[in-house]
Amino acid sequence: MDLDIKQICCNIFKKKSMDELISTGKRSELKKTLNVFDLIVIGIGAVVGTGIFTIIGTAITGSSESAGAGPAIVISMVLAAVACVFSALCYSEIAAMIPVAGSAYTYTYATMGEFMAWMVGWILMLEYAIGNITVASAWTGYFVQFLKGFKQYLPDFVINFPLWLRFDYKTMSAWCNTYGVDIHDKIPYIFGHIPVCVNLPAVVIVLILTLLLIRGVKESTRVASIMVGVNMFMILSFVIVGAFYVKPEHWTPFFPSDMSGVIMGAFLIFFAYIGFDAISTTAEETENPQRDLPIAILGTLIICTVLYVCVALVLTGIVPIERIDIQAPIAHAMSYIGKDWFAGLISVGALCALTSVLLIYQLGTTRILYAISRDRFLPKSWRLIHKKYRTPHVMTWISGLIVILCGLFMDLNISAALCNFGTFTSFVIICVAVLILRKTDPNRARPFKVPFCPWFPIAGILICGILIAYSLNTLKTSSMYFALWLLVGLLIYVFYGYGQKRIEEKGRIVKKSAD
Ligand code: ALA
Repeated sequence: MDLDIKQICCNIFKKKSMDELISTGKRSELKKTLNVFDLIVIGIGAVVGTGIFTIIGTAITGSSESAGAGPAIVISMVLAAVACVFSALCYSEIAAMIPVAGSAYTYTYATMGEFMAWMVGWILMLEYAIGNITVASAWTGYFVQFLKGFKQYLPDFVINFPLWLRFDYKTMSAWCNTYGVDIHDKIPYIFGHIPVCVNLPAVVIVLILTLLLIRGVKESTRVASIMVGVNMFMILSFVIVGAFYVKPEHWTPFFPSDMSGVIMGAFLIFFAYIGFDAISTTAEETENPQRDLPIAILGTLIICTVLYVCVALVLTGIVPIERIDIQAPIAHAMSYIGKDWFAGLISVGALCALTSVLLIYQLGTTRILYAISRDRFLPKSWRLIHKKYRTPHVMTWISGLIVILCGLFMDLNISAALCNFGTFTSFVIICVAVLILRKTDPNRARPFKVPFCPWFPIAGILICGILIAYSLNTLKTSSMYFALWLLVGLLIYVFYGYGQKRIEEKGRIVKKSAD
């Protein structure tokens, strides 16, 4: 018995050797087609979305629960970028060293062993798959706005399509509560009992993107680059046109709620930076990963920070704080200066931005699941490669279905909070992994090195650790779901992953002795 426990402990801390990981990456069946430009497109496509088009409004004005940053949102943005930069540097060092699909999951396997790796992979699903539920829902909001822009040309039943085809059940109940309407009058029932309430635009866009991803990663990034191009064009036009309407007196008082508003602003706007780590999930499909991954990760972060600060300065310079809209602040700012047509164009830019976030997050989910299944923690059949397109098509369908099915019943605020928990945790893990590898494998070639090690990784651990502690303490319901998610992950490992891994190991030993 004693021996068994020892054996189990030994197994759960079993690490993958760096050489094994690197050779797996080299043998990869995935096509190597991505260059540094593609990677930056993936980065910007994953980062610029709901955060800058929607959340910025609440971060500036505040809400019933939180103080607003006001014009000092620019400081919040720099703070949030600093919180990301330490992890971004760590991602760059490890991604260049181990250019293998799977992101933080793979890096944890090399440093902390199989159990932690599985748990990190499971937590990453919160960031990617569950985070995508929030984005898909925001997509529907902008889609409805976009349709409204065509109200002169489109029939009324298209513009005002039924609410039960627009909202998930929970959002629908919240809507009915707000307007004092009986939900039973608003939605149809199958067999008189089963309510039909589907966020149809979100389902359709996720299905279209799933098919696109199966078609090929290069094709997908080509579509993403068009969308990133459109949304960058809209954001830059907003900054350039808006700059002529800025009234510097709107920037005073610069700190309407002291530092508390700035800190809360940083916490909220952090969502706008999530996603740059998606670049590292495509390492196996990159032509020159050692050189290109660090350039793309840091490049994305710098480009986005500069862009966000410019948008925030123009937005707060045009519209007085108390008049900033919290649903579509950037589009509304253009209406505020009498440019309604431009506001319509901004909603096209926002739709493009959200579509590219959805696309890249789904790509990330698939590639992480692919790496996990290659290690046998998930069924082998899931990682079948499409004969013609050489993409993991079963996995792509699974990740698409997760978003669609969970989107049917999941509370969207909770999915956003869970996404944050997943991201903070993976950032901490990545900083810890750099520290461990510097100790355990100091001589391995590092095409990129985090400067001021160990201080920069430690700063990353502290900042993200404080953010996790803060949000766990504030968001009670989401914390409970987070704990439940971890428990389910633990049970899957105990009852499935652990056993499968041992069967794989036995098979390998038998094969070796037969050779
Ligand atoms: N950073 C991404 C967004 O803002 C998640 O939508």
